[in-house]
Amino acid sequence: MESTSSKLSSTFFLLQIFIISSFIYPTSAARNPLRSKTNNDFIKTSCSETTYPRLCFASLSTHASTIQTSPKLLAGAALNVTLSSAKSASALMLKLSKIHGISPKGAAAMKDCMEELSDSVDELRNSIAEMSKLRTPSFNLVMNDIQTWVSAALTDENTCSDGFAEEKIKGNLTSIVKGRVLNVAQLTSNALALINKYALLHA
Ligand SMILES: *[C@@H]1O[C@H](CO)[C@@H](O)[C@H](O)[C@H]1NC(C)=O
Ligand SMILES: *[C@@H]1O[C@H](CO)[C@@H](O)[C@H](O)[C@H]1NC(C)=O
Repeated sequence: MESTSSKLSSTFFLLQIFIISSFIYPTSAARNPLRSKTNNDFIKTSCSETTYPRLCFASLSTHASTIQTSPKLLAGAALNVTLSSAKSASALMLKLSKIHGISPKGAAAMKDCMEELSDSVDELRNSIAEMSKLRTPSFNLVMNDIQTWVSAALTDENTCSDGFAEEKIKGNLTSIVKGRVLNVAQLTSNALALINKYALLHA
C-alpha cells in the first residue's frame, strides 16, 4: 500500500516536472536554442563550400528545423528552394512579357528565356522526384540522374540570361529579369554543389 502510493506520488511529481519544463523549454526544434544553433552551424559549414555561400545560408537557414544536420535533407531543401524561385521567376516573366512597349528584340529574348526557364522548372521537378528514390542498391544510378537534371537546369538558366546580354536589351525590364534568373542560377549552382557533396558521402 505504502509503496503504491509513493510510486503514485512520484509519478505525479515527474508529471509535474514534465508539465512545468515543457513550458520553460518548448520541445520544438525551432525553439530549442541549442539544437537550432547546431542546425544553423551545419547549414553554414555546408554552404561555405558552395559558390554563393551567403545566398546559400540565407535561403536555407529558414528551413533549419527541417534540415537538421542531414546532408540529404539539405540537398532536398536546396532543390525545393530553387524550384520555387524558378517558378516565381517564370511567373514574373510571363507578367512582364505582356507589358506593351517591349522592343521586338526584347520580346524575342523574353520568349526564349521563358521557354528555357520552363524547361529548367521541369528538370528541377524531375530531380526532386528522383530524390525520393535514392535507396541503397540503385543509389549511384539515381544520383547520376539527379545530377544530370540539375546540371541541365543550370545550363538552361545560363542560356536564358546570356540571351539578354547578347541582345543588348536596355532598361529596367531586362535588369529585373536578368537579376531574377541570375538568382535562380546561383541557387541551382549551390543546390548542385550540395548534391555533389551528398553523393560523395555515399561513394
Ligand atoms: C521538398 O519538396 C517535396 C515535395 O513538395 C517534399 O516532399 C519534401 O519533403 C521537401 N524536402 C525538404 C527537405 O524540405
Ligand atoms: C527605370 O525605372 C526608374 C523608376 O522606376 C525610372 O526612373 C528609369 O527611367 C527607368 N529606366 C529605364 C532605362 O527604363
